[in-house]
Amino acid sequence: MPTRRPGREVFTEIWTDETRPGVEHVALADRTDLLIVAPATAHTMARLAHGLADDFLTTYFLSHRGPVLLAPAMESAMWRHPAVATNRDLLAGRGVRFVGPDSGALASGHEGIGRMAEPAEILRAARNLLADEIGDLSGLKILVTAGPTREPIDPVRFVSNRSSGRMGYALAEAARDRGAAVTLLTGPTALPRPEGVRVLSFDTSADLHGLLVQEFPECDGLAMAAAVADFIPEQRRERLHRGEADATLRLAAGQDVLASLRPLRRGQTVVAFAAETEDLERRAIAKRDAKGADMIVVNDVGRSDIGFESPDNEVVILAAGQPAERVSRRPKREVANAIWNAWSKL
Ligand code: CTP
Repeated sequence: MPTRRPGREVFTEIWTDETRPGVEHVALADRTDLLIVAPATAHTMARLAHGLADDFLTTYFLSHRGPVLLAPAMESAMWRHPAVATNRDLLAGRGVRFVGPDSGALASGHEGIGRMAEPAEILRAARNLLADEIGDLSGLKILVTAGPTREPIDPVRFVSNRSSGRMGYALAEAARDRGAAVTLLTGPTALPRPEGVRVLSFDTSADLHGLLVQEFPECDGLAMAAAVADFIPEQRRERLHRGEADATLRLAAGQDVLASLRPLRRGQTVVAFAAETEDLERRAIAKRDAKGADMIVVNDVGRSDIGFESPDNEVVILAAGQPAERVSRRPKREVANAIWNAWSKL
């Protein structure tokens, strides 16, 4: 029976209980891209190398169809033993990849080779492996903008918006994992910097414009997910104080950053984003064409369960000359993959 923990299921037994019919190791194989075994002990390596299937992991391994990454961990003498070396070679010969082991302090208190690679290193190896395997964006330079702009009113206040940057970060990470060289231009967000992505920061829409002028000519694709200010304070003032005679905030129209990037170089494709509350598709198509984008992704910002600040999104992808593609509610990372799938077909 799978042990339930917050977040994801943990499978420990080969057979599921009556409430969960089906053979889980087969079902899981249908929805898994990569198998990582960390730590991979000498015993587990032997069972994998010889096709034994006496627990969930080894049974699953025989059903798994994608790439496999092992992070061995054992004492130095065991790692050097010919039996382990032969099993490693057998597995490597069948395409299994390895990360580590590293040298360092071992469980026995000895120092030497056999220490499991650091988790961050395993994650990096996993990403590289997926990029090699899936890799449909490899060789491409992708530029992604994410997050809000901040337009200063005075030294302590600004005009901004509710963008969390999550959709843009998900797009950058998904493109990276599909092999692209990704540059992320980010406004202020609370999100961790994605690894393996070049990150440049902006505050104002003018900063963003400056970065795009510098970065856009070199890129093959731009996903413009940033929520750019349409109105900016007319003038930046000295700090306003309570009781000030004129505290009226005057806003002026800001530049349409995306529209200003035209003309595009041959082969460059641009994805715009639209956040609407009514008449979604018609408005989005008009926006796509006015801004010279190849595709626009629209979501309904009137709903609180998707879009701004939510981990999920539900969008419609509108590519020029293609039927509308509706992507039902799902994590932003999966929405990002649907967007890159549509982008690849442009
Ligand atoms: N955009 C931009 N510069 C702006 C405003 C928006 O480059 N000043 C980009 C956004 O990054 C997005 C697309 O244009 O990819 C559409 O943004 P949206 O805010 O929906 O459209 P607006 O042009 O601002 O139109 P409106 O707010 O009037 O609906």
